[in-house]
Amino acid sequence: MNRSFFIKTYGCQMNEYDSEKLNDLLKFSGYEQTSNFENSDIAILNTCHIREKASEKLYSDLGRLSAFKENKKKIGKKMHIIVTGCVAQAEGDEILKRNKSVDFVFGPQNFHELPKILKKKKAKKIHNNFLYEEKFKSFSLSSEKNVSKLITIQEGCDKFCSFCVVPYTRGKEFSRTVEDIYAEARSLVENGAKEIIMLGQNVSSYKSSVIKSGKDQNVFLGELCRILSKIDGLKRIRYLTSHPIDINEELIDEHKQNTKLMPFLHLPIQSGSNKILKSMNRKHTREFYLGLIKKIKGKVKNMAFSSDFIVGYPGESDNDFEETLDLIEKVKFASSYSFKYSARPGTPSSIKKCIDDNIANKRLKKIQQTLNAQQREFNISFLSDTVEVLFSNKGKKNNQFVGRTPHLQPVHVFSKENIIGKILRVKIERLTSFSFHGNLIT
Ligand code: 5AD
Ligand code: SF4
Repeated sequence: MNRSFFIKTYGCQMNEYDSEKLNDLLKFSGYEQTSNFENSDIAILNTCHIREKASEKLYSDLGRLSAFKENKKKIGKKMHIIVTGCVAQAEGDEILKRNKSVDFVFGPQNFHELPKILKKKKAKKIHNNFLYEEKFKSFSLSSEKNVSKLITIQEGCDKFCSFCVVPYTRGKEFSRTVEDIYAEARSLVENGAKEIIMLGQNVSSYKSSVIKSGKDQNVFLGELCRILSKIDGLKRIRYLTSHPIDINEELIDEHKQNTKLMPFLHLPIQSGSNKILKSMNRKHTREFYLGLIKKIKGKVKNMAFSSDFIVGYPGESDNDFEETLDLIEKVKFASSYSFKYSARPGTPSSIKKCIDDNIANKRLKKIQQTLNAQQREFNISFLSDTVEVLFSNKGKKNNQFVGRTPHLQPVHVFSKENIIGKILRVKIERLTSFSFHGNLIT
C-alpha cells in the first residue's frame, strides 16, 4: 500500500494555495492523501509566523503528534513529521530543538524538494533557500476542482514594515511570468473555475516583462487583470493583498472598465495615526490613504474597501488610537480585520517597548465593535436589492446553496436545481450575522 499523508494548513490563503500544490505534488509522486492527521504516515504542518498565537499552535500540535508517532513506533509503524511554511523558514533550528520527533523542516520556497527528501534516510535537515522559480516550476495544474480558485502570482515583500516577518520568511518580491499565470488560470477555467483570486503578499507590486512589438515591456497588475479577463468562461477576477503606495491609475481604470474585475479592494492601512504609520515604516500617511480612497471612489462608484488594522503598536497613545477610529469613520469599510500587535522576533519593532496589555485588549475590542458595526451598516444597505451571486457551495440545509456577491458577502438561497458554478440574480431578503438570505429571481 502507498504511504499516506495529511497536510494541516495554518494562516493565510497563500498557505492554502501552497498546501493544495503540495497535495498534488505528493499525490503525483505516488503518496495517498488521508483525512486522518494523527494516523497518517507523513504528517505535514504548513505553518504561519505572522503573529505569536499562530506560531504557538504549531508547537501544541507537534506535542500531540509526537505521542501518535511514539504509539505507531510501538507497533512497528513509521511516521514522518514534517514542518514547512513560514515558521519553518524563520525558526527551523528552534523547531528541531524543541521537538525531537520532527523529521524534516523546509521553507515555503522548497516544496519541490519534498518527494526527494522523503526518499532519504537522513533526517533533521533544514531546507530554506528562496528557490521561487524551482518551486513554481514544480507545480502541476490543479487537480482539485472548484468554482473559485486561488493562484499565487507574486511572493515575498520588499516593503519591510517594522512589525512584519514576511520579508524574512517569504523573501524578496518575486513575480511569476504572465505566461505561467495565464496557463494556470486557463486550465482552472477549463476544469470548472468561474472565479480566480490572484494572491501575493503585495500583488499590487506585480511586475513581469513580456515581449511586445519586439521590445521587452513590463506588465503590471492592471494589465494582468485585462489579459486574464480574455479567458472564455472566466466570470470573476479578484486579487489580494495590496499596499496603498502601489495602486496605480492603470489598476483603477481597469476596475472601471473591466466588468470581470470585482469592485472590492482589500487595502491594509494598519493605523490611522501618522506618527504610528511612520514608526511602522508604512511609507504613506493617513491623508495619502484617504486621498487614494476618494480617488478610487470617484472613478469606480460601487467600489468597496476592506482593510487590516494593528492596535497596541509600541508607542500608540489614546490619541493615535482615536485617529484610527476617526479614519475608519471617514472611509466606511465593507469589512476588515484587526489584530493586537504581536512582537515578532527579528523585526525592527520587536525591540520597542510594548504598551500595556490591558489597554491593547480594550482597544482591540473597541475597534472590532466599530468595524463590525460598519460591516453591518454596509450589508444593511443591500436589503431588498437584487444582486448577482456566484454560487460555489452547498449550504447546510437541504436544497440550500451558498454564493458570494461582487462585494464578497455570502448569500444563502434554496433551489431544487444544482446552481453551483452559476451567476444568478438574487433578491436579498434577510441578513443574519454577516450573511444574506434571499430568493432566486427566475
Ligand atoms: N502583529 C499583529 N498583526 C500583524 N500583522 C502582520 N504582522 C503583525 C504583527 N507583528 C497583520 C497586519 C497584516 C496582516 C496580514 O497581519 O495587519 O496586514
Ligand atoms: Fe508585511 Fe504587508 Fe508590510 Fe510587506 S507590506 S512588510 S507583507 S505588512
